[in-house]
Formats: sequence, C-alpha cells, structure tokens
Amino acid sequence: MTKQIHLWAFLQGIGFYPTAWKHERARPAGVFSMDYYASVAKLVEKGCFDAIVFGDQLQSRGAGGRTPERMAMPTLDPVTLLTAMGAVTRHVGLVATISTTFNTPEMLAERFATMERMTGGRAGWNIVTSVHPDTAGNFGLDEMPPKGERYTNAADVVAKACELWAQMDRAGPALPQGRPVLVQAGQSPQGRDFAARTAEAIFCPAATIEAGVEFRNDLRSRIAAVGRNPDGTRVMPGLSCVLGGTEDEARANHKAIMDLADPALAIEYLSESLCCDMTGFDPEAPLDHEHVIANTLLPAADVARAVTPAGEAGTPLREFAMNFMLNPRGHNVFIGTPEQMADMMITWRDEGACDGFTLQPSYMPGGLEDFVEGVIPILQQRGRYRTEYPGSTLRETLGLSPRVEDAA
Ligand SMILES: Cc1cc2nc3c(=O)[nH]c(=O)nc-3n(C[C@H](O)[C@H](O)[C@H](O)COP(=O)(O)O)c2cc1C
Repeated sequence: MTKQIHLWAFLQGIGFYPTAWKHERARPAGVFSMDYYASVAKLVEKGCFDAIVFGDQLQSRGAGGRTPERMAMPTLDPVTLLTAMGAVTRHVGLVATISTTFNTPEMLAERFATMERMTGGRAGWNIVTSVHPDTAGNFGLDEMPPKGERYTNAADVVAKACELWAQMDRAGPALPQGRPVLVQAGQSPQGRDFAARTAEAIFCPAATIEAGVEFRNDLRSRIAAVGRNPDGTRVMPGLSCVLGGTEDEARANHKAIMDLADPALAIEYLSESLCCDMTGFDPEAPLDHEHVIANTLLPAADVARAVTPAGEAGTPLREFAMNFMLNPRGHNVFIGTPEQMADMMITWRDEGACDGFTLQPSYMPGGLEDFVEGVIPILQQRGRYRTEYPGSTLRETLGLSPRVEDAA
C-alpha cells in the first residue's frame, strides 16, 4: 500500500512570514475575530487536514516598543481559540501548545479535558518547555531553568496530567480519547529523548530531505530503545510554501513577499530572537558571529549552531537577518508549482523523511487557500492523501491505536 501523507496546519497569526501581513491576500484585520478563525477552520477541514496547531507565546515581542509592526503576530490563548474553532468543525484535530515549565498539571489537565469533551475527542497537546529568557520574568523567575531541568520537570508534569485524566475517566464519563494526543516540539538530544518516551507525534524543523531522514531515523531508534513501537508515532516537520502557476511565477511571488520586509525590522527581530542586540552594527558588514555567541543570553551552543555558518561565509548582517526572519527555525520553505510541491512531498514521505508535514502558509489566508485548492487535489489524485475523515477522534485521524500506549 502506498504511504499516506498526514497534514497539519500551523496557523500562527498572519502566517509564517512575519512581513506577510502586508500581502494583498492577507487579512491582518481579521486575526482577532471569530469570523476569521471560523472560515480558516472550515478551510482546513475542507482540506481534510489531521489537525490545526497553535503555538503559545509567553514572552512579549515588543522589543521595547521599537517594532509595533511585529504585533501583527498576535498570539491568542491556543486552548480557548482551538475550542472555539472546534465548535464550527466536526472532524479536524485541535493541537494546542502548552508549556510544562509554567503550567501546573492540574490546570492544564482541566483545560485539555474541557477541550477534549467539547470537541468530541479532537484534542492534542503540543508539549514544550519554553526557551526564551524573557519568559522567566513574566512568571517571577530571574532566569529560565536549564534545559535538562526543564525536560525532567516536563516528564513529571506529563505523568501527573496523565494520571489526572485517568482519574477523570474512572470518575466517568470517560474522555473520548482517554487523554489528548501527546505531541512534542523540540529538537535537541534531550528533546528527542523526551519525545521518544512520551510523544505520539512530533513537530520538528527539517530544512532538507536528508535532515528529515536523519531526524526521523534517529527518533525511531530512540523510540525503539525505550520499548515503544516507532510506528505508533508520526513525525511532522514544518513546511512553508510560496506557490505559482509556473516556477518563474512562484519565484516572483516569493520575491514580492521578501520585498515587503523591512531590513531594520529584521535586525531587531534577530536581536530579540538571539537575545543579543545587533541594531547598532553595520547592516552591510558580515555578521559578527563571535560577538553574538559571546553576548547572547540564550544557551551559547544553540546560538552558535544558528549563526556560525553565516559568520564564516561572511554573510552581511542584513541578509542573514532577512533570511532568519523568514525562517527562524530552519524549516523547509518550498517555492514552485503545486505539481512540484506534491512531487516533493511524496518523495519526502517515500524516502522516510517524515510521516507528513506541518504546513505553515507564508501568508494567511491566501497561502492556505492556494495549498488547499492547488496541492491537495493532486495528492488525492495520486492516492496519497485522504478524501474524507476516517473517524471522529484525532487519534483515529492520525491512524494511531485508540488505546494509548504508555511510556516504558
Ligand atoms: C517546531 C517547534 C515549535 C515550537 N513551538 C513552541 C511554542 O509555541 N512555544 C514555546 O514556548 N516553545 C516552542 N518551541 C520550543 C520548545 O519550547 C522547546 O522546548 C525548545 O526548543 C527547547 O528544546 P530543544 O532544544 O529540545 O528544541 C518549539 C520548538 C520547535 C522545534
């Protein structure tokens, strides 16, 4: 049997490109309105996606008031928002991100149980530990706990939440799925080990097919090593796209979006994301990677991975910042025709680079419309994508066993 492709829609705010709110087919004025989210949810369900995913954001992104434009990346509470989107849909799964570092198991178990019941078993929990140092102060801490500590705590929080859901089941009536589908986003060795013990699906970056194969193989061997079945987990790397009727048109569409970006804003965004102020540096001079690594407030090793290649290649700060703004996590960004995109997706799936993709449309809702109308029919014609939902719960949609498999 041909391998089916799973699809999620990650629909943060105005889309994946922070500048794309200026796009003529974006609807930035809608991002705080129910009408907007209702129409987007229906479009995702028309496209038979497994799930909609929203991140959380526990730090402010105002850069000291310098960059009001970035407020065009609104973050609404994902559980509330997804429960509302669940009310206007019947099948699509609803995956909300909640940090284990800043939420008690009692609080999050209650919120997910509400979403799970109100949507008839469509809840998923994207488990993150949060990374940005600005978050700490918002919760009364001087600094973020170290990564190892955050993951140890995450394991405790997940275990306690699962126990609470089991208690709710015993008290009856049972939660439709027993508990939400457990999803994880994080890519370090600690993150992968945590995913191997816990996750039923993983949202990760993979810029190239080789990176995807490496990640998925590595994860599957870690899953097998803790005595779980690797086939019980879906690996869903991020995928952004800019489409066009021809390759040239797609490239022109991409350039048009790039041209909307303000380079000074990009450098502020980079400064904030890497926790090192670079706004006073010459934008045309090569990125000073040694300065960034020496001065960042983030773990230096993580930042070194992000900036060293550009520093060594002498990439100007402006160019690096523009590329970083458009793709901060190193996801796969596809530029081409719908046919080419479908081919690429099928190849990635066949080569074992993923079980499916987490689509991050570059602008919203136009980019999502183009994908649903252009790419999905091709995948369906080729027999690689469903034309209707198989059941009603998210776990059924993902093709996972309805009986939850607990960590070893
Ligand atoms: C694809 C992806 C999406 C993420 N989304 C969020 C998010 O919405 N909120 C958040 O606090 N952290 C998010 N994170 C970061 C997680 O907090 C993760 O714990 C962090 O990357 C540190 O772990 P790592 O080094 O294992 O990746 C995300 C990470 C990845 C890879």
